[in-house]
Amino acid sequence: MRKGILSIAAVAALSLGLTACGGESGETGASSSAAPASSAAAAKPGKIGVILPDSKSSARWETADRKYLEEAFKAAGVAYDIQNAQGDKTAFQTIADQMITGGVTVLAIVNLDSGTGKAVLDKAKAQGVATIDYDRLTLGGNADYYVSFDNTAVGKLQGEGLVKCLTDMKADKPIVAELHGSPTDNNATLFKEGYESILKPKYDSGEYVAGPADAVPDWDNAQAGTIFEQQLTKEPKIAGVLAANDGLGNAAISVLKKNKLNGKVPVTGQDATVQGLQNILAGDQCMTVYKAVKQEADATADLAIALAQGQKPAATGTVKDTETGADVPAVLLTPKAIFFDSVKEVVADGFVTKEELCTADFADKCTEAGVS
Ligand code: BGC
Repeated sequence: MRKGILSIAAVAALSLGLTACGGESGETGASSSAAPASSAAAAKPGKIGVILPDSKSSARWETADRKYLEEAFKAAGVAYDIQNAQGDKTAFQTIADQMITGGVTVLAIVNLDSGTGKAVLDKAKAQGVATIDYDRLTLGGNADYYVSFDNTAVGKLQGEGLVKCLTDMKADKPIVAELHGSPTDNNATLFKEGYESILKPKYDSGEYVAGPADAVPDWDNAQAGTIFEQQLTKEPKIAGVLAANDGLGNAAISVLKKNKLNGKVPVTGQDATVQGLQNILAGDQCMTVYKAVKQEADATADLAIALAQGQKPAATGTVKDTETGADVPAVLLTPKAIFFDSVKEVVADGFVTKEELCTADFADKCTEAGVS
């Protein structure tokens, strides 16, 4: 339904007549390679490595990113290797070293923090490997490209979403708690900028009251529960929760449930995970932000393939690396807010299936929300 910014076909067409210097490929690597494309024009593009961050801070990395990246690489017939560092910075380095030694010509990473991300990017560059920051910008990292969503826009949608839900509930001077993402994730900084641009004027005018606000290290969902428990103890009248993703939102909802406050206190989220969407259907979560990861994976695959062929593909814009002041060539996609009535759009887009979402407990709500 939606398409990546550069289609794979367009990149292949671009490659006509260009001399590629991507290195060898087409080898079927142990776990994850696809047969090479048969196009006469397509130069052998070399192997593409991707390192995902973990599988706990959000369900998206294993359920969406891996799947869509694999589909895109397979469709293009390029060799690839996708691995997950499982939140371990040392493992992240080791995986990167192995990929570089193993001959990847392009490396895309979702960093665990900018410092360790930069170390990996520096090594890759020193070996002539092209680099892509996937989803998270590595500050000071000088990646060749950055592919993500407009993350400040994500935060704005969260802030506006919370305002909508509080308005619908006719909340009077609500006390709002905030659960920010990991302080080491540049995206968390951008999300916060986005939602504070909506909430701060309301705090300043006295329309809303700023309650407890804390960052959640490494987006750790379990820790988020403990943090929210403390927030609620400190401020029992919390009337709204700006949670930076569905995992943090679910942690807050679990605590609200224990206190019989779920459904009375709107909570935000992000990623349109099955759990987040079910929380919305149940009335416990106010909204989530849907990021069509297929678009992000397709755009990354298009760039990676062109880079592996020795080309210099066009980006659609730039983002500022706030550490170096450099403009990093970037592809930024558009996020969408999802409420009860629009849950069906996420299903229609193929991001989650009706089967996984509309399990027995949610069947009636699915019908009510028009999920088909
Ligand atoms: C991503 C979010 C994700 C979070 C935790 C962020 O960098 O943009 O989609 O929920 O990391 O993994």
